[in-house]
Amino acid sequence: MLFYKKLNVKNFDLIRDELERATTDEVSKSLRFWDVPFNWFKDNSPLLYEFIESHKKMPIRLCRFYLTPKQNVLIPHIDGLTNNRSPIGLNIPIIGYENTTMDWYDCPDDNLIDGNYGFNKITASIVIDFTKLRQIDTTIIDCPTFVRTDIVHGIKNYNSSLRLVLSIRFSYTATFGKQFEDVMNIAEL
Ligand SMILES: [Fe+2]
Repeated sequence: MLFYKKLNVKNFDLIRDELERATTDEVSKSLRFWDVPFNWFKDNSPLLYEFIESHKKMPIRLCRFYLTPKQNVLIPHIDGLTNNRSPIGLNIPIIGYENTTMDWYDCPDDNLIDGNYGFNKITASIVIDFTKLRQIDTTIIDCPTFVRTDIVHGIKNYNSSLRLVLSIRFSYTATFGKQFEDVMNIAEL
């Protein structure tokens, strides 16, 4: 199984600069996450908007910025509930992502518990016993990267600066939207 796939987006440097400029105010509020509608990018990051518009195959369901403070972690979890997992995300790094990792873990099904464990009590499934986790993959999200979010995953930021990443989520059904190629034309990337 592929846990992630990095995309070669030619103008990524310019997209990142746009996103950094557009998020200065929110970053200063020290939120752990915030959402914007996809249309927000039309004015605030037109290069990203154009890139997504010209490659997407499925509607955008959610655009969420995730901020990990310095010397901090996002503990291993799955997105959604065990019986309705959010399958994948397109993660776009913006600030402080060098030397940080996203890690995936093997986890027995009976070692997960559903509840309102996410930020602002959104539904998420968390690990009961962390000693039962076995790391199975890791990467530095240093360019636009598709990631599996239905496998137990976490973030480590041991830098002295915060990390900011945008995650774009696409519509999915029980049978469609779990493969990276389902939601975007990525053959050329
Ligand atoms: Fe997650």
